[in-house]
Amino acid sequence: MNHQNLAAHWMPFTPNKGFKAQPRMLTGAKGMYWTTDDRRQVLDMTAGLWCCNAGHGHPHIAEAIARQARELDYAPCFGFGHPLSFELSERLAELAPGNLNKVFYTNSGSESVDTALKMALAYHHARGQAGRQLFIGRERGYHGVNFGGIAVGGITNNYKAFGQWLAVDHLSHTQDLGRNAFSKGLPEYGGIEMANELERLIKLHDASRIAAVIIEPITGAGGVLPPPVGYLKRIREICDQHDILLIFDEVICGFGRTGNAFASQTFDVLPDIMTTAKGLTNGAAPMGAVFAGDHIYDAVMASAAAGVEFFHGYTYSAHPLACAAAMATLDVYEQDGLLYRAAQGGEIADYFEQGLHSLKGLPGVIDIRNYSLIAAVEFEPLAGKPGASGSAVQSMAWEQGMMLRSLGDAIAMSPPLIIEKHHVDQTIGILEKSIRQLYN
Ligand SMILES: Cc1ncc(COP(=O)(O)O)c(C=O)c1O
Repeated sequence: MNHQNLAAHWMPFTPNKGFKAQPRMLTGAKGMYWTTDDRRQVLDMTAGLWCCNAGHGHPHIAEAIARQARELDYAPCFGFGHPLSFELSERLAELAPGNLNKVFYTNSGSESVDTALKMALAYHHARGQAGRQLFIGRERGYHGVNFGGIAVGGITNNYKAFGQWLAVDHLSHTQDLGRNAFSKGLPEYGGIEMANELERLIKLHDASRIAAVIIEPITGAGGVLPPPVGYLKRIREICDQHDILLIFDEVICGFGRTGNAFASQTFDVLPDIMTTAKGLTNGAAPMGAVFAGDHIYDAVMASAAAGVEFFHGYTYSAHPLACAAAMATLDVYEQDGLLYRAAQGGEIADYFEQGLHSLKGLPGVIDIRNYSLIAAVEFEPLAGKPGASGSAVQSMAWEQGMMLRSLGDAIAMSPPLIIEKHHVDQTIGILEKSIRQLYN
């Protein structure tokens, strides 16, 4: 490829100058592997961006999208509908826990998050508590890149140039290397005391001003931090005591990543609102879905005597091609048992865990953490270059035929849920070689 052609695309979350000097081009994908423009096969240990849970290029999903494009390419969803979105919603509501029975469609995780925040405000407004405008997020939380998401998110680079345009405060993150380094599964220590910090924030701001707490059940882009034992249940309890809504951002965790359809099922904690995207269509079409509890929907519906009840929606909400992709994806997940394959303690998660923790003791490795099929390895910062070791390991692994996600001084993995033991072996081999190369 002529690299001069790369100038016009302003790439997202990418060092543009670095990429254009040394492009990493993907031209095809099948199952667990990418094909690159120089015809290499590269193992996908990230499911793209945590989204291709059933692996790449599944023919059932591809055919469903093509068929739908011929039948009904687009349908406006403001005041009109098409049958597939209602069918999909019923199926999703059945899969979701508790009373999360109402599904609102978006086109991305970021839009799902901002939709969920607006639902929370609309709910309180409908109940005569419009003073509840403040949101509590969490340090190192990632909730996408729209203005709501960056405000509740806790990653400084994502908002420092843009501001925080919502009333927000943040819980501390849950990483405790002193007590919980090299945890297998949920970290053992500190869950209740960390969650109790929410009581301090409620005292500070007053419950009557707080709309919702929004957290990822497992912090993803902020470094892969499974919740310490007891943490999520305690957060739920405190929210209940103060009539504060709990939003789980399951954009990464949803659709099998934690060994159930949703992490709220894995951890047995029911949020009031749940955001999803990514795995919903296996990454094959842009789509997000926000699940609202019946109480949220009912309150908003009751607040308007006639006309539109919720002034929110997107031109492409419930897009027919995305609905077709999601229906076919759910077929694949069901037929192949993928929603449950990653279960912590199950055969493949166990094998992955053992492989990863065999890297303990390598030079530079200061933590390894995992839950189901999501994991991170954290490194000592390189002298004079804090935050650079993850991308150094990522580059070395790429050269050896494996895609990883770099997150500062860590690398993250979230492979397609179809991963087999020999892929795990390949991963551990490449990781060990890369780490030894960097810290020799
Ligand atoms: C937890 C979480 N929320 C929201 C988002 C944003 O999703 P998108 O990039 O589709 O807007 C992400 C993306 O990684 C995410 O991990």
